[in-house]
Amino acid sequence: MAQEDVFKKIVSHCKEYGFVFPSSEIYDGLAAVYDYGQMGVELKNNIKQYWWQSMVLLHENIVGIDSAIFMHPTIWKASGHVDAFNDPLIDNRDSKKRYRADVLIEEQLAKYDDKINKEVVKAAKRFGDAFDEAQFRATNARVLEYQTKRDALHERYSQAMNANDLTELRQIILDEEIVCPVSGTRNWTDVRQFNLMFSTEMGSTADGAMKIYLRPETAQGIFVNYLNVQKTGRMKIPFGIAQIGKAFRNEIVARQFIFRMREFEQMEMQFFVKPGTELDWFNRWKNIRLKWHQALGFGNDHYRFHDHDKLAHYANAATDIEFLMPFGFKEVEGIHSRTNFDLSQHEKYSGKNIKYFDPEQNESYTPYVIETSIGVDRTFLSIMSASYCEEQLPNGESRVVLKLPAALAPVKLAVLPLVKKDGLPEKAREIIDELKFNFHCQYDEKDSIGKRYRRQDAIGTPYCITVDHQTLEDNCVTLRNRDTMEQERVPVAQLLGIIADRVSITSLLKTIQ
Ligand code: GAP
Repeated sequence: MAQEDVFKKIVSHCKEYGFVFPSSEIYDGLAAVYDYGQMGVELKNNIKQYWWQSMVLLHENIVGIDSAIFMHPTIWKASGHVDAFNDPLIDNRDSKKRYRADVLIEEQLAKYDDKINKEVVKAAKRFGDAFDEAQFRATNARVLEYQTKRDALHERYSQAMNANDLTELRQIILDEEIVCPVSGTRNWTDVRQFNLMFSTEMGSTADGAMKIYLRPETAQGIFVNYLNVQKTGRMKIPFGIAQIGKAFRNEIVARQFIFRMREFEQMEMQFFVKPGTELDWFNRWKNIRLKWHQALGFGNDHYRFHDHDKLAHYANAATDIEFLMPFGFKEVEGIHSRTNFDLSQHEKYSGKNIKYFDPEQNESYTPYVIETSIGVDRTFLSIMSASYCEEQLPNGESRVVLKLPAALAPVKLAVLPLVKKDGLPEKAREIIDELKFNFHCQYDEKDSIGKRYRRQDAIGTPYCITVDHQTLEDNCVTLRNRDTMEQERVPVAQLLGIIADRVSITSLLKTIQ
């Protein structure tokens, strides 16, 4: 099945089973804004819990905060967002559609990559076992031609972005003969900068309302509180502050479902270190974060680092952790060495001394910061994409199963009485009443057992138990494993011991310790 079709299926599965709904749907929706349904909110909460606990439980020197979304507007001036949090946009005069100029060029780069990969796949088929991919890439005339064009484009693009040269970005689009996907024409406007922050007003106009911004990242709430936390928590460098919260960006190109939203959620951690040690910490955090992702069990080949070509003026190292989505490798998390830029800027704009006093060195300095910044929604999408499976069963039937990591699954256990009578529903309820304190259980008595299994597979429930007439005699139930579909007979008294460990976030955390 084409990856595009897989993605469409994942989107409709999210809607059909209560994971994600388009926002304001009965009013025809609101572009790039989504609501999480009854299953989605559980999965999202579990992702957040996994991240939060991996930060504040596993690291003695990391604590959390929850800062307000509204902040003093000068914060965004100091951070550079008012002047420089821009995307280069371009319009097609015929279709009246608006695009990000950088995205159009990046898509063109991806087209060259696709062409090269197609040549490689074709040759691999032709030569079979004798195929030497490295040699083919180094010598095949067509591959070399594509690679040369790609490299030249990449070089030109990086230079234009680094120099903020909007005229050159437009010229690249013209020279590469990039057409509007809607009108098919090359009738492009100039490239302009567009600020991504949403603004609103605080206070009544009579009092002189103040223009304030909806935060485009949670990080600044950490920076402006770092000294409060350091002093009240008696923290010593190196230490970190973690935060989960909403962020807002007026994205120009809002596509690909919850990948790029206008309202989204971030999990950010700022790690404050001694100047000069930041690159060492940057590498440590790269490894810690990659391990966190890999522990989800989708296969290490689903992740890769992508080092930034264009470093922000305040960063001295930056990388993305990319995940293999149905539409290619895409950024899920950014890890940035932000130097002392943000803290120095806040010191300058606020006029307050926010230096750290290092008791061991007996000196004050502005700490350097390593940031790990991951999107909850993108993580959600990566997990849904990698978990979605359509399987052909030995009996000729097929099933859709979400092979979610058990610790993140919205429902951990479904309790199914074989029939709706003879005391089986009561027994099933009794079992739920015992287990509901430990994990999320669901009761279902409607339809055949087969149909009920399919419903649980579709929402990713790792275990189902069937309560039958025999249960009333021997107090045992049939425990079914979602992935293997194997069934075993187990005593009710052992259920907690068998399941709790396998579905707990604690168990997942132990694998990354
Ligand atoms: N404080 C640094 C920062 O905000 P970023 O790379 O702009 O860095 C970090 O964002 C993460 O936030 C991204 O890796 C992504 O997962 C998520 N993110 C950013 N913009 C998003 C959007 N429009 N929709 C969904 N997630 C987004």
